Amino acid sequence: MYIFKAAVIGAGAMGAEIAQVISYSGLPVLLKDVDPTLLDKGLGRIRKIYQGRVDKGKMSPGDMESKLALITPTLDYGEFSDVDIAIEAVPEKMAVKRAVLGELAAALPETAIIASNTSALSISEMGQATGRPSKIIGMHFFNPAHVMKLVEVIPGLDTAQETVDDVVTFTESLRKLPVVVQECPGFLVNRLLLPYLNEAVQALEEGEAGASEIDQQMQTWGMPMGPFFLMDMLGLDVCADVGQYLHREYGDRMRGAALFPLLVAAGRLGEKSGAGFYGYGAETDEPVKEMIAELQASGQVKPSGRPFEADRLIMPLINEAALCLQEHIAAPSDVDLAMVAGTGMTYAGERLGPLAVADRLGLDTVVAKLEALHAAYGERFRPARLLRTKVRAGHLGQKTGRGFHEYSQ
Ligand SMILES: NC(=O)c1ccc[n+]([C@@H]2O[C@H](COP(=O)([O-])OP(=O)(O)OC[C@H]3O[C@@H](n4cnc5c(N)ncnc54)[C@H](O)[C@@H]3O)[C@@H](O)[C@H]2O)c1
Repeated sequence: MYIFKAAVIGAGAMGAEIAQVISYSGLPVLLKDVDPTLLDKGLGRIRKIYQGRVDKGKMSPGDMESKLALITPTLDYGEFSDVDIAIEAVPEKMAVKRAVLGELAAALPETAIIASNTSALSISEMGQATGRPSKIIGMHFFNPAHVMKLVEVIPGLDTAQETVDDVVTFTESLRKLPVVVQECPGFLVNRLLLPYLNEAVQALEEGEAGASEIDQQMQTWGMPMGPFFLMDMLGLDVCADVGQYLHREYGDRMRGAALFPLLVAAGRLGEKSGAGFYGYGAETDEPVKEMIAELQASGQVKPSGRPFEADRLIMPLINEAALCLQEHIAAPSDVDLAMVAGTGMTYAGERLGPLAVADRLGLDTVVAKLEALHAAYGERFRPARLLRTKVRAGHLGQKTGRGFHEYSQ
């Protein structure tokens, strides 16, 4: 299906940037909100992105105006009857999404695709809510959407293959990188990233090292920024919410660190509130150290008595990636592509995802490391069945020519 006109519902942080991305590709796009002030704010955000390009000499002021003219702000569905794809980016509440999806199903032509930018909610449930489940799909952009290349494309149980193909082609036309991911809580990138971040917090509260020390070590390992810096940027309330959701869905291996609720209750939400794991401006990280001391004194958290090692964070990332393969959530090359594009991870100076890293280390080494971590820290480090099977089969990674990927010897 050729897409001639798009619409974005919700002109907030994500919606405005998605509309900018669509207009930049040359396609007309409606931008709808319920709040005129927020709609104006969204348009201001889009203008600022374009102005940035003009200021850098990457675009002429005339080009900027013609791209901006492709965006039609609106508070109603009057011009939706010839829209080919609508992407909803309204708040992450199923009741709000359901209401908007119902309105869209009434306003759009029968053939239109309805995509959701949800970070976590069920696409299959949304399909059921609209009465046209074959046309519903997840299109998960990453923040900031005008910069981040990755888009997770998530079919629900009843999404038609044609819808998947159309959305993959559409995503490519936006000069983004689509990765098809089967529906599961957290989809792919957040499912892998959250346990990694959570493990960093547990290492901190167990006294293995300070936040800046752990950040430093993870950057040395190859991450573009440390986990605490990243969490402060994402917002600790957001991390705590997503963490709780993943814990509910996956059980104990994703139990959230004790420090999260304390930080959120203290209003330390990260950079946006002036304090998180770090202090910004006049704030310091002393209150976090006091919280940790109290957690340890009350016996809620036991000091591990070990020095911090990057493996404590990296091995769960690899293990969760292997669990995703077991569940057929995505192909091995897509897992690595998504993690590199979504997180910027590198290893030994190369842009490698977790499965390629495992292949470099040797899957036998990875299993041995996970077993040691399992003995030290508990059940959440139990090696994935697929890892053990590969080791038994002699698929040890690069050194045997075959692991998660294949290598010419
Ligand atoms: N912020 C992120 O980092 C991020 C990243 C990926 C995905 N997401 C997802 O994107 C979605 C939007 O998140 P956000 O951070 O942009 O939210 P936001 O709160 O910044 O924006 C939501 C916008 O939706 C508007 N809105 C509310 N009800 C509406 C309705 N009935 N019809 C039309 N507009 C309505 C609001 O007025 C607001 O402008 C969520 O599903 C979120 O999970 C967010």
